Order: sequence, then structure tokens, then C-alpha cells
Amino acid sequence: MGSGTGVLVLFAHPAFQRSRVNRVLSEAPKRVEGVTFHDLYEAYPDFDIDVATEQELLLAHGSVVLQHPFFWYSTPAILKEWQDLVLEHGWAYGSHGTALRGKTLFNVITTGGREDAYKPEGHNRFTMRELLAPIEQTARLCGMRFLPPFVAHGTHGMTPEEIEAHGRDYERLLEAIRDGLVDVELAQTYPRLNADLDQIVRRP
Ligand SMILES: Cc1cc2nc3c(=O)[nH]c(=O)nc-3n(C[C@H](O)[C@H](O)[C@H](O)COP(=O)(O)O)c2cc1C
Repeated sequence: MGSGTGVLVLFAHPAFQRSRVNRVLSEAPKRVEGVTFHDLYEAYPDFDIDVATEQELLLAHGSVVLQHPFFWYSTPAILKEWQDLVLEHGWAYGSHGTALRGKTLFNVITTGGREDAYKPEGHNRFTMRELLAPIEQTARLCGMRFLPPFVAHGTHGMTPEEIEAHGRDYERLLEAIRDGLVDVELAQTYPRLNADLDQIVRRP
């Protein structure tokens, strides 16, 4: 258990028809071979999450990405429901719960707030990494390796060119994750994975 190759992207946007940034970002996983894109609001418009299907998807992949807009310093609601239902005791955690051990997890997030708002002296007072503590600890409890998030900050003023650039960075990161080319120790020293991709993506 716990093996599986490739990357599973769990996508959550409750108003995708109004999305500017995730609309473009969500094209990146579809361009990368070995990446499965799974739209949770599309699959479960009534929140009727199929636990067995979700667990099979997790088992079949080595890395898991939670892609979503930042909503109230957290994820849209379906990702919380997904955690509550899918990460079962005796499967994901607990003395016999080893299904996710050794897998990698990180968030891909868009925020209305600018990067300098997410610091102790900033408007939002906490860093992104601090605000993601519940997800980080959930991953740890399940024996997963948690990486800093990929973040596209300041969505409201973002130009189409900037959005496209984030999409290309996301694509590059997914390829590197799939190929095991991310320097994980170095990545942990950055606030976000896309702070300096040239540094954290090793050459093949
Ligand atoms: C319900 C709701 C809550 C939000 N909460 C936050 C927040 O806590 N922090 C933040 O920076 N932006 C927040 N925003 C702004 C969204 O993150 C932003 O609109 C979104 O990332 C833009 O991506 P999109 O074009 O794909 O919709 C919130 C937006 C909504 C609708």
C-alpha cells in the first residue's frame, strides 16, 4: 500500500463559471501526462462524495495536489467534506491506517490578498504556511510529506499575461513532481513552491 505513481489533482471551485485564475490554472494538469485532474464540485454537486472511489484514486497516485481558491483562509467547503469522509480511521490514520504513507501532498492556491498581506505585520497577520497548519498536520498524521503551497497571490489585479505565467509555472511544477525532480529539502525553506522554481526543480 501507499505506492502509486503520478499526480492526483483534487480541484475545488464552487463557482467555476465565474473563475478567472483557476480557469486558466486548471488547464495545466490536463496538459501533463501522468496527472489526473478530478473536479470535486463537478463530480459531487450535492456533496455526495463516493468514499471508495476517492480512496482508490488516492491509492493509485504518489502525489496529491489540492487546487482551490483561498476561501476564508482555508479551502472551499467540499475539500473539508472530502477530508472528513475520505480520510477514514484505520485507512488513512490509526495503527492500521497506512494507505497514504509516503505520498506527497501540497496545495495550489489562488488568493485575492497580495503576498505582503500574508505576514505577521500584514493585513492578514499570518503566513500562508501558518494558515495551512490544519492541512499540514492532517497530512503528517496520515504519514504524508507536506510541501509548501504553490500560490498565485493578488488575483483581483492580475493581468491575463500574469495568469498565463502562473499556469506555465504550475505545469512545470507538476512535471517536476511527477518526475521526482523537486528538491524537497530546499523547497521546505521557501514560503511557496513557485517562489523560485529554477532553484527547487533539479535538472534531470
Ligand atoms: C467566499 C470567499 C472567501 C474568500 N476568502 C479569501 C481569503 O480568506 N483570503 C484571500 O486572500 N482571498 C479570499 N477570497 C478571494 C478569492 O480567493 C479569489 O477571488 C480567488 O482566489 C480568485 O480565483 P478565481 O478567479 O479562480 O475565482 C475569497 C473569495 C470568496 C468568494
